[in-house]
This record gives sequence, structure tokens and C-alpha cells, in this order.
Amino acid sequence: MEIFIDSADVNEIREAASWGIVDGVTTNPSLIAKSGRDFRSVVHEICEIVDGPISAEVVSTESAKMIPEAREIAKIHRNIVVKLPLTTAGLQTTKIMFEEGIKTNVTLCFSAAQGLLAAKAGATYISPFIGRLDDLAHVGMDIIEELVTIYDNYGLPTKVLAASIRHPRHVVDAALIGSHVCTIPFKVLAQLVKHPLTDSGLAAFLKDWESVPKR
Ligand code: E4P
Repeated sequence: MEIFIDSADVNEIREAASWGIVDGVTTNPSLIAKSGRDFRSVVHEICEIVDGPISAEVVSTESAKMIPEAREIAKIHRNIVVKLPLTTAGLQTTKIMFEEGIKTNVTLCFSAAQGLLAAKAGATYISPFIGRLDDLAHVGMDIIEELVTIYDNYGLPTKVLAASIRHPRHVVDAALIGSHVCTIPFKVLAQLVKHPLTDSGLAAFLKDWESVPKR
């Protein structure tokens, strides 16, 4: 499973990338706003930190504006994946980007039916939002399982990108199901690294090492 970091904070992205486990980055308008920076400059800087797919999202809602906006975002860097909402305008734009050879990440997906349509339109990635569905007492991970099966049934090349990840168990479940990608906030990436038995085991090794005769 590919691991993306879900962030527009260049310090977090640089730190996680230094661990050697980051394949790409996803952003969204809320994350860009949180960075407090200009959209184009922060996205360009992210592209210089991570040499992999970098998702940057449109904010237009009608296809007449979304299509040119998507083309402009794609020009920022060769690794840009244009993020488009799962609306009819988003599907229309996805189809046109597919025909123009521009990669897309169709976002705000909350059902397998929506995900099937995104694949039909030629999406490179589909982003089902697991945590936001869990918040409403659904089992978000069911959509990951359904979409992996549906795409496999028909040999659809769209990659399932598990998004809205809240905790390490989401990551493990996505990997068990066979999600192609999981995009993970920095806080959860840090939680994935840690285990109290690793810490106590290392402390014991280092303490025992003190009694080893040194020459
Ligand atoms: C990523 O592509 C999504 O925009 C993001 O994972 C949404 O996460 P949230 O539900 O925590 O905002």
C-alpha cells in the first residue's frame, strides 16, 4: 500500500518524508487555509519536498470554471494530481482531464456507487472519506472493501485512496483490505511508529549495555 501524507504543512511533510515512508501528499482547501500560505507557493514547495503524486484541489463548482482551473493547477508541477469533487461537474472535468492526460483524484466520495462513477469517468484516484462516515455511525471502511472489489471485478485502473483517516487501526484495516493508497495525517503517522514495548525494550537494551565491559 502506498502511503501519502494528508497535510499542507511543509514542516510536517519534510519530517515525515525524512522517515523514508512517504510516497505522495494530499491537500485540500481546508489544509491549505490552515497552512496560512498562498495556494500556488505552498503546493510548489510540497512538490519540491516529495517526488511523488501531490494532490491539489479545485474550488470552482461549475464545469465551465472547473475545467480551466484544473488545467492551471496541473501546470504547477509535473507531479500534480488535480483533486475534483464528486459532483456532476467534477465527473465532467475528470473525463476531460483523462482525455488530456492529466491525473485526477476524485474527492468527497461517500459511497461505492459514487466511486464506480468516478472510475468510469477516468479518475486516477478515488478518495472515500472513512473517518467522516464513521462519525455518522456508518462503517466507512466498508466502502474501501466494496470499491477494491468493484474495480477488481472489471479491471478498472482507478486506485482506491483511503482518506479521512483518524487512527492507526484505519491504516491497518485499509492495508488488510487491499486499498492501493492510504493518506494519513502527520499525527497518525507518528502514532503508527510508536509502540510502548519498543520504547521499554530499547531502554532495557541500553541499560544492559552499560554493564558490558568496554575496552
Ligand atoms: C484527503 O484527501 C482528504 O481531504 C482528507 O483526508 C479529509 O480528512 P478529514 O475528514 O480529517 O478532514
